[in-house]
Amino acid sequence: MDKILVHGGPRLSGSVRISGSKNSALPILAATLLTREQCVIHHVPDLSDVHYMLQILTHLGAEVERASGTVTVQAGKITTNAPYDIVRKMRASVCVLGPLLSRAKEATVSLPGGCVIGDRPIDLHLKGFESLGASYRVEAGNVKVFASRLNGAVCNLRGKFGSTVLGTDNVMMAAVLAEGTTVIEGAAAEPEVVDLANFLNAMGAKVEGAGTRRIIVEGVAELHGAEHAVIPDRIEAGTFLVAAAISGDQVTLQRVAPSHLQSVIDALRKAGFLIHTTETSLTLHGNGASKSLELATEPYPGFPTDMQAQMCALFSRTDGISVITENVFPQRFMHVSELKRMGAAIQLEGATAVIQGVERLSGAPVMASDLRASAALVLAGLQADGVTEVNRVYHIDRGYEQIDEKLNALGAQIERVKA
Ligand code: UD1
Repeated sequence: MDKILVHGGPRLSGSVRISGSKNSALPILAATLLTREQCVIHHVPDLSDVHYMLQILTHLGAEVERASGTVTVQAGKITTNAPYDIVRKMRASVCVLGPLLSRAKEATVSLPGGCVIGDRPIDLHLKGFESLGASYRVEAGNVKVFASRLNGAVCNLRGKFGSTVLGTDNVMMAAVLAEGTTVIEGAAAEPEVVDLANFLNAMGAKVEGAGTRRIIVEGVAELHGAEHAVIPDRIEAGTFLVAAAISGDQVTLQRVAPSHLQSVIDALRKAGFLIHTTETSLTLHGNGASKSLELATEPYPGFPTDMQAQMCALFSRTDGISVITENVFPQRFMHVSELKRMGAAIQLEGATAVIQGVERLSGAPVMASDLRASAALVLAGLQADGVTEVNRVYHIDRGYEQIDEKLNALGAQIERVKA
């Protein structure tokens, strides 16, 4: 297994180009199953999660071509069974359920794996499908969803921890070819949901209200091929902003959508960093001293759970006591024990991390446990004395395109040791 060695200390400066969004690209690629015609998707990041999705599409019968960041998919004839071998590697595989149910009226998908961030049910996805008239069965580790026809309906997808992103995507995709009008209340408002809705509309769907808590889908008889460019990855951008906050002089992010990052920008500004934005770029001026903060993760437009671990890394060396409460995935704190091994002083109280800033972190061998946790360990390594050895970096490769090379281009000293 590859590992990454982060040499702590160097200051970062310069500019970095942000890749297309993983969390947009995955459901958009799944949505290409909704038509027999060819779809062309640009700015698709080169990540292992994307490769898994392309493998699933190929397994389901689609013809898939990839040339640099452009993926062409033609799902002329499809089958409806996504196998355990591929699905177990990535939770987002579950988002083929909606399009398969919509087009073929049935889908069997192995129950998803992916990041180990607590219990991750799909009850809200299934509730949405049921309200459209579908039934489901769970057997032998698979979930089978089927319907003789799908009818528009009103459903509420709000759960105990707020809205569900992939659940909203799935029900939206199931509804586009249903008979009549579907109203999704309690919908997720994340920019990735809006990106998917824009792609569906480019295919001929009639989706309104994406980006709000109520999405209205008027079913159409069929969809056609379309071309689409995926939005920039706001979590990759946020991670580079935190890297700049931790050890940057002046770092500019290019091809970003600053409006998608408002809560992260606000938090970093409150922590004392100067950030300039244009329509497509962000520049952070590191001034060496950040202030402690209280933060809580929330569904969009609140502070993203996918940025919580990186903020823990930043606050580990920020003077004073910072407090981060995790409201979306209350058990998402696997990075804490590893940060503590590097000298961080973090106490967990339920879903809240209380972080007492320390003067120094020291490099240590650490274990990546999920995607964003592993990014946090790299960020901690940038500011640690000595070398931080991040093991199990396949987690990072699931969601960051060449993070080592991009950070090195800014002046970091990161080596990848091939297994
Ligand atoms: C997506 C993102 C992930 C991000 C998360 C929250 C992708 C590929 N992944 O994951 O990076 O961290 O949104 O912003 O887009 N829940 C239920 N029942 C369900 C579904 C979800 O109780 O049927 C709960 C989850 O356990 C969690 C909360 O709802 O506590 C939010 O999860 P959800 O928005 O569904 O996360 P994903 O869409 O899987």
